[in-house]
Amino acid sequence: MADVDEAQVSEAQIAVHWREEEYYEPPASFVAQANAADPAIFERFSEEHFPECFKEYADLLTWDAGWHTTLDTSKPPFWRWFVGGRLNACVNCVDRHLATRADKPALIWVPEPEDEATKSISYQELYTRINEFAALLRDFCGVEVGDRVTFHLPMLPELPVSMLACARLGVIHSEVFGGFSGAACGERIADSESRILVTMDAYYRNGELLDHKAKADEALARAREVGVEVDKVLVWRRHPGEYGSQSPMVDGRDFFVDEVIDDYRGELVDPVSMPAEAPLFLMYTSGTTGQPKGAQHSTGGYLAYVAGTSKYYQDIHPEDTYWCFADIGWITGHSYIVYGPLALGTTSVMYEGVPTYPDAGRPWRIAERLGVNIFHTAPTTIRMLRKLGPDEPTNYDYRFKHMTTVGEPIEPDVWRWYHDVVGKGEAVIVDTWWQTENGGFLGSTLPALQPMKPGSCGPGVLGVYPVIYDEEGNVVEAGSGRAGNICIRNPWPGIFQTIWGQPERFVQVYYEKYCRNKESTDWRDWPYFAGDGAVQTSDGYFRILGRVDDVINVAGHRLGTKELESASITVEEIAEAAAVPVIDELRGRAVEMYVSLKPGVPASTDIEQKVSKAIEREIGKIARPKNVWIVADMPKTRSGKIMRRVIAGISNFADVGDVTTLANPEIVDDIRQHVQGVKAARGEVPRELTPQEMEEIKAFGQAE
Ligand code: WTA
Repeated sequence: MADVDEAQVSEAQIAVHWREEEYYEPPASFVAQANAADPAIFERFSEEHFPECFKEYADLLTWDAGWHTTLDTSKPPFWRWFVGGRLNACVNCVDRHLATRADKPALIWVPEPEDEATKSISYQELYTRINEFAALLRDFCGVEVGDRVTFHLPMLPELPVSMLACARLGVIHSEVFGGFSGAACGERIADSESRILVTMDAYYRNGELLDHKAKADEALARAREVGVEVDKVLVWRRHPGEYGSQSPMVDGRDFFVDEVIDDYRGELVDPVSMPAEAPLFLMYTSGTTGQPKGAQHSTGGYLAYVAGTSKYYQDIHPEDTYWCFADIGWITGHSYIVYGPLALGTTSVMYEGVPTYPDAGRPWRIAERLGVNIFHTAPTTIRMLRKLGPDEPTNYDYRFKHMTTVGEPIEPDVWRWYHDVVGKGEAVIVDTWWQTENGGFLGSTLPALQPMKPGSCGPGVLGVYPVIYDEEGNVVEAGSGRAGNICIRNPWPGIFQTIWGQPERFVQVYYEKYCRNKESTDWRDWPYFAGDGAVQTSDGYFRILGRVDDVINVAGHRLGTKELESASITVEEIAEAAAVPVIDELRGRAVEMYVSLKPGVPASTDIEQKVSKAIEREIGKIARPKNVWIVADMPKTRSGKIMRRVIAGISNFADVGDVTTLANPEIVDDIRQHVQGVKAARGEVPRELTPQEMEEIKAFGQAE
């Protein structure tokens, strides 16, 4: 955080400028059918009944053996849930539904090209496909319980099939978002020491068939540099039998799944009964340092948590048609496209492409045609659809009972468009706040029982007790108008178990800051530090202000500044680099890079492009900076630290704060004139920042 005086001034400003939004009550038609409509549920999940309250979630699953200890706190903060219990996640998501709904669609996959047929995959067919692929993984690849397998798969049904095949075998899957670069995938392969990569030849994005297999070759090369050798690359084909990539198949290493799987047709694989505490998957995410963290999620606790929250917060009934418009490459897709909805036996829709292809009516056409009644997406998608087709939803005859927003703060006026136009005023909305590390929702209204308030996620969810602390660990009272660090006072079943291979970092990043007593085995001494700033209003609702750890949330994707900076300095001419967020009307935030050059190197647009390319190569297209600014020097403290808040202020046309104590204060005006001059000429002057955004910019770069 900024120094104390400055923080107090800005918090006071927030208190003054913060407009309270009005409440929206859930429609009676929603309440009448909701899974959680009896307020007695709050009592059942009150602190007094913690941790036993979570039996209610675990009872939604089918267990091979019951647990003897609901929550074991003997090695804090490595909480263990449902200890002694055994289950298989694939059985819970698929096998157990066969008796009652074998022919019901489990997945409905919508390809991006509109003239290509939608594929409906029944629970029976899903079962068959999972078993065949599990047999292939086990017998052709030789994977065993506890091994890691990396996927770099786009939004095709082959992704959930691959995930559930691993789950069936007790193998830990690690899906890397398809839009990440080969290099980023390679680092994740290396970190998890996967010997198998599962990928796809190509997929459609914005009307174009993208060559994806090429990234596998880059990934393997990068993993090899770090000393990890991949044995086999399994390539699913977008069009079985036709190869859609230019990249050559490497003999003895690369195999087409649609060919090899012929040897496993009709095979059934016994599901492996796993301890509740066995890891189910890894999901890599960014933080303050340059190295991505592999969030390790458990089998029993995780699955119970996503099933419970899908039931009560997503209000999923088996007969619903549920569409979560996110990518399975992110935690939202794991929890709320695959594991949660399938555990409840519903129909989960997945879509291959971009929301606005071929036009901004596409999602609503899909919703109308498939009879979607629950819709779930991110503010960035909502903003884009509003911009390109503000009236499009009115042209389609669908009815949503329930909608979700997730991943970034949603501006109240965007929320209102979502409510009035997309939801036609008939759908309840949940604004769900949570993180990769959490498995499932942390903050949300319970849709039939708590009114909505635009821009606020609501209170802590059932059995989750949040608190806001200041830097010293004092509680920031609700209604004080002051911001602080939101923490969760208690463990919950969906919490990740550790950072893969880095238990010390796990403790340090998430628990050290507010741990009261390291010797204590009482969970009350170990609040979870979420890394977000927040304000709590007197109604108990939280407004999330964004990350306090120098992570930039671009269109709902977490990008670490250090990763962006390391990528930039792979360009030979670059001496130093600093990444900052700029307010972006569609993506929420975009990245701008500031770079200084090695002595004697002249500035050129060529270098700017090299920086962009390097970021694309090391991370992926999503991280491409909006601008690269070449500066003579970075504003620095006397101890040589780059003042990111100063350049963030310049990029956003905001106050840069006190610069008199810098080692080189004169540079600030030079940079401002240059950057703001160019931006003004290009029409890139942003709107005036809200107090909340000003706070974020001022605090930027303080986490180191
Ligand atoms: C932000 C995505 C405001 C927050 C599930 C968090 C949100 C980070 C919300 C996690 C929300 C997520 N309102 N901000 N409803 N949901 N965030 O790990 O800063 O990709 O820490 O998980 O996104 O992003 P992640």
